[in-house]
Amino acid sequence: MPALPPEAARTLQMLQHCNVEPSRLVRLVESDPGWAAEIVTEARSPLWSLRTEPEDVHEAVGLLGLRRFHQVLAAAAVGPLLRAAVPGYGLAAGELWNHSVAVAVATREILLEKGLKPSEEAFSAAILHDVGKLVLGSVLESDPESAAAAAGADPAAAVEAERRAAGIDHAEAGAALLEHWKLPYWLVTAVRSHHDAADPSFLITDLVHLADALVQDRVPPDSAARWSLPFRSLERARARSIARLDGVRTSAVAVEGR
Ligand SMILES: [Fe+2]
Ligand SMILES: [Fe+2]
Repeated sequence: MPALPPEAARTLQMLQHCNVEPSRLVRLVESDPGWAAEIVTEARSPLWSLRTEPEDVHEAVGLLGLRRFHQVLAAAAVGPLLRAAVPGYGLAAGELWNHSVAVAVATREILLEKGLKPSEEAFSAAILHDVGKLVLGSVLESDPESAAAAAGADPAAAVEAERRAAGIDHAEAGAALLEHWKLPYWLVTAVRSHHDAADPSFLITDLVHLADALVQDRVPPDSAARWSLPFRSLERARARSIARLDGVRTSAVAVEGR
């Protein structure tokens, strides 16, 4: 199981408490200067579209607001893990991170297309949705045949290959990892079911499912119908997601320098 730095785990667990005092959160983050510096660096990413670059954690909370600051915490906590190469899936350094960010941005754009406000929870769930690939990557490395199928374009064949090689798929592995990290139940549920269109009752899960399909340009008709989104709306959301990612993408070169 990939380990989360203790300071990152402690702050992420605070996502359970929506009413946490901002000053308490700032104090907790600042108790570890290295972690605080990582948070400030993450908050300066073009992903958050801040007009002013924050100088410290306190300023970052002020500029972002508490709910968006939670997103920054999630991104800073798992970013270093997700930016690494995952050879078992044929993913170069930066590729899993770029995909995760693309899905997160797409959740926003889909909701905007519906005339709804972006969901901070869906954004964080999207950042984490494929984290299970970190768990299964090393298993697949020793099983080249399953690895080829798991990295292929057919989602059903990929899941089957994961189960054959590891006994579970990456959605289940991701949920187990988040439970191990003691992250909130709603995040665990969203990650566990992000490939499962059969249970659209949980909005965040269904949104991450649609956003994941959208960035891969394979939206299932039932999902589009459930969201009452015509093709041109989905295309607009996809185009805006791609445009927003310019300047945010992590290249392999940038990853090596981190
Ligand atoms: Fe996935
Ligand atoms: Fe995905």
